[in-house]
Amino acid sequence: MESSARRKKSNIILALDLPSDKPSRLLSRSFQILDSAHPYLCALKLNRQAVLPIGLFNGVQKIVQKAHGLGLPAIMDAKINDIGNTNRAIAQYYYEAGFDAVTANPFVGWDEGMQPVFEVAHKMKRGVIMLVYMSHKGAVEGYGQMVQDVATHQLVPQYRVFAEKALKWNADGAVVGATYPEKIREIRAVLRDKVSIYSPGVGAQGGDVEAAVKAGASYLIVGRAIVDAKDPIKTAEKIRDTAWQSVKRRSGKIG
Ligand code: XMP
Repeated sequence: MESSARRKKSNIILALDLPSDKPSRLLSRSFQILDSAHPYLCALKLNRQAVLPIGLFNGVQKIVQKAHGLGLPAIMDAKINDIGNTNRAIAQYYYEAGFDAVTANPFVGWDEGMQPVFEVAHKMKRGVIMLVYMSHKGAVEGYGQMVQDVATHQLVPQYRVFAEKALKWNADGAVVGATYPEKIREIRAVLRDKVSIYSPGVGAQGGDVEAAVKAGASYLIVGRAIVDAKDPIKTAEKIRDTAWQSVKRRSGKIG
C-alpha cells in the first residue's frame, strides 16, 4: 500500500460499490471506472455487494486482475467474523481470487477466531486489516461501548481494546471511520506508526478528507462520493488532490 500510494501520489482507495444491476453490466461498469479513475487511486476495495451478484471466481477475480494490471492492490472488505475454521476458508478463497488483504472483526478474539486468518495470510503473504471503529452512526453502540478489559479488569472503550489487539496481532491496518476524527487521533496514539489507519466515511457519510488525514488516517476509502458523482473521474481527482495535500501538510509520510 505504501509503495502504491507513493507511486500514484494518492491515498485514495476506491470502494467500488455499484447500484444493483445485471452481473455483466456490473462487470463492464467496474472495468470502465477503473480504466478512467485509476490515476487518482492507490487501491481498490470490494465488498459482498460485488461478490454476491458477480461471483468470486466468475467475475470478481477479473476485476482484481484488472486492478493489479493498473498497479492497484485489491482489498476485500469481508469483515470476517465467524469461528476460526470458517474464517480460514473465507480468507483463503479471497486470497486465492487474488485479493491482497481482507478486513476482519477482532470481536471474535484470537484463539479459534482470528488466529487461522493470520495464519493463512502469512502463508500466502497477504494482509489482514482489523476493524477498530466503524464509520456509521450506530458504531458507538458496539465499538464505542465501555467494556472490562479481560487482562487488566479496567473499564475501557471497546475500540481501544481493538486497537491494542491490532497492534499485538501485528495487523496490516486498522479501520477507523473518517466520520470520527477524534477517534482517529486517539487510536493513532495507540497504533503509532506500526499499524496504518484506513478511513471510510468520507463524503456520503459526512466525513471530511482534511480532518481525517490531519487526525492520522493514512488511507481514505471512498465509495459513493466518487461512484455516484456526475463526473466520477473529476471527483476522484479532486478528492485525491485535497487528500494528498493534507498528507504532505501532515508530514509527507504515508503509512
Ligand atoms: P461510502 O459510499 O460511504 O462507502 O464512501 C464506504 C465503503 O467503505 C465500507 N465501510 C466500511 N468498511 N469499516 C469497514 O471495514 C467501516 O467502518 C466501514 N464503513 C464503511 C463500506 O462497505 C463501503 O464499501
